[in-house]
Amino acid sequence: MAFDAIFQPLVFKNLTVKNRIFRSNVSGRFDNYDGSGNQTRINWERKFAKGGVGAIISSFVPVHLRGRIVPGYAMIDHDRHIPFWRAVGEAVHEHDCKFIMQLSHGGRQRDINGIEHPVGLSSTGKADPIHGFKCEAMTTVQIKETVAAFAEGARRAREAGLDGVELHGANGYLITQFLSSAINDRKDEYGGSLENRARFVLEVVRAIRAKVGTDFHLQMKISAREFDDALALFHIGPSGNTLAESVQVCKWLVEAGVDALHVSTGSFFPHPRNPAGSDLPVEDLAKSYDTMISSGERTFMNFLFFHSPAGGAFARQQWNQAAGPASEIEGKNLGEAKTIKAAVTVPVICTGGFQTASVIAGAIGRGDCDAVSMARPLIANNDLVEVFRRGQDRADQPCTYCNKCLVNVVENPLGCYELKRFPSREAMVAQIMSVYDPPAFR
Ligand SMILES: Cc1cc2nc3c(=O)[nH]c(=O)nc-3n(C[C@H](O)[C@H](O)[C@H](O)COP(=O)(O)O)c2cc1C
Ligand code: SF4
Repeated sequence: MAFDAIFQPLVFKNLTVKNRIFRSNVSGRFDNYDGSGNQTRINWERKFAKGGVGAIISSFVPVHLRGRIVPGYAMIDHDRHIPFWRAVGEAVHEHDCKFIMQLSHGGRQRDINGIEHPVGLSSTGKADPIHGFKCEAMTTVQIKETVAAFAEGARRAREAGLDGVELHGANGYLITQFLSSAINDRKDEYGGSLENRARFVLEVVRAIRAKVGTDFHLQMKISAREFDDALALFHIGPSGNTLAESVQVCKWLVEAGVDALHVSTGSFFPHPRNPAGSDLPVEDLAKSYDTMISSGERTFMNFLFFHSPAGGAFARQQWNQAAGPASEIEGKNLGEAKTIKAAVTVPVICTGGFQTASVIAGAIGRGDCDAVSMARPLIANNDLVEVFRRGQDRADQPCTYCNKCLVNVVENPLGCYELKRFPSREAMVAQIMSVYDPPAFR
C-alpha cells in the first residue's frame, strides 16, 4: 500500500492505535453552559472517526469549573458527566477509533469567563499580556486541589470507558503557566528553577498514576519552545522555555509515568506559530472578537484596534512576521519532535500543519516522530485518512491554513470558513451546520 508507514498500528504501553494519524484537539462550543455534553459533540467526534483517524484526542476538557476557558465545552469535573463521555467513546469506538480525553485547566488564559468564576487562577497574579485576562496567584491549597481535580478527571475518563487521557501541558494554559520561565514568577517551591516550575505537572502525573494505576494511557501535550516574545505589539519580554528545558521536562514526565508526548509550540493560544497560518484573517477576527470584549482588561482596546484599518494592518503584519513563511507550515514542530524523540523512550506525536501523505510517511519513516496529529486539515477534509488510503497524496481541496475556522470558533460553530474551498456560500454554511445533524432534541 502507498504510504505504508501511515497505516502501521502504533503500540503504546497501554494502548494500540490502528494507524498513525490522530485527530488533534479541536472542538466548537457545542455543549451546554453547565458543562454537560450533548448530541452535537457526539456528531462532531463521529465525523472524524468515520473518516478513518486512528484516534481522536478531544478538545480542552476542564477538570475544574474554574479552569474552563469558554462556556459550552463539556467538562469532566463531576461524576455526573461520566455517562455523556461514555456515549462519546462508544460512538467513536463503533468506527474502530480510540478516544483520548484532554484533561485541561485554563488558568488565566480564558476566552469568556462565564458567570461562576470571573477571575482565573494561575502560577502568577499578572494578567495575560494580550487580552488582559485577570487572575490570582494560586495558593498551595489551591494547587493541591487542582492536582486532585486532574486525578479525578483521569479516573472519570477511565470509568467512562475512554482509551486514555492527555494532559494539556501546552499553549499557555495552566500547566504551561507553571512550566514557563516567561510566565511563572513564583517565589515558592513551584517557581524559580526548572525543577520547581515542573513540580506542579509532575505532581499531577503522580496523582493520576496513584488514582488510575499504571495500565491506563496517559500522554502530555507540551510546547517544546515557547516564543513568548512573538508579538512585540503586546509584550516585550523573555522568550520562555527552550527546547533543551522541554527535553528535560519530557524526561521527568516519562520517569513519572507518562506514556507518550504530543509536541506543540507557543506559550499562549492562539499563537502565530500555532496554529500557524498563511495569513491573519483580520476581517473575520474583528467580527468575532466582540464576544470577548468584556473578558479582559485589554479586550475592548484590541477590538477597536482590529476594527481600525491601520490597527488591523499592523496586527496582521506583526502576526504574519512571527508566524514565518507559509511554505514552512507543514511539519513546523517536526525538528523539536525529533529532538524530544531522541531523548525519551516513549512514542512522540507531532502536531502542526500536516496534510500531505508523503510528508507524513517520510517523517514517520525517518523516525522523526511516531505519529502526527491534525486539526485544521481534518476540519477541511474529515475523510483525509481515507483519501490517503486510496493512494492520493493530498485532498483535492486542501486546507489553506487561512485560520478562519480558528477566529470564528469563539462566536460561531466550528467548521471550515474558507469560502474558496466551496462552490458557494450556501455549500460552506451547509457543511458547517452539518454538525447539528442529528439534532440534540428528537
Ligand atoms: C479551532 C481550533 C481549536 C483548537 N483547540 C485546541 C484545544 O482545545 N486543545 C489543544 O491542545 N489544541 C487545540 N488546537 C490546536 C490543534 O489541536 C493543533 O495542535 C494545531 O491547530 C496545529 O495543528 P493543525 O496545523 O493540524 O491545525 C485548536 C486549533 C484550532 C484551529
Ligand atoms: S477555515 Fe478551512 S481552510 Fe481555513 S484553516 Fe480552517 S479548515 Fe483550513
